[in-house]
Amino acid sequence: MSASKSTPPEVVTLRVNGRVVTVPVGTTVAAALGAEGVPVSRVDLGGRPRGPVCGMGVCFECRATVDGVPDVLTCLAPCREGQEVVTDA
Ligand code: FES
Repeated sequence: MSASKSTPPEVVTLRVNGRVVTVPVGTTVAAALGAEGVPVSRVDLGGRPRGPVCGMGVCFECRATVDGVPDVLTCLAPCREGQEVVTDA
């Protein structure tokens, strides 16, 4: 029997609405929001909560402010070390 040597997953640490979040490398911002229990990334002009729908850059419902840039499609944005994500939630 051979012992397999596993390496810990590579992770990145970012902040979501001021809260420190650590996720595996390659995680999208939308997925990090979902994992943190933040289903709402923005509110529409009528004040209704909106969040990711398509997960592939088509619906534009997942927009949030990332590193000070508004309306970033979080479903297409990979999490990066030190990233700051702000939602309307
Ligand atoms: S979830 Fe549809 S564009 Fe991001």
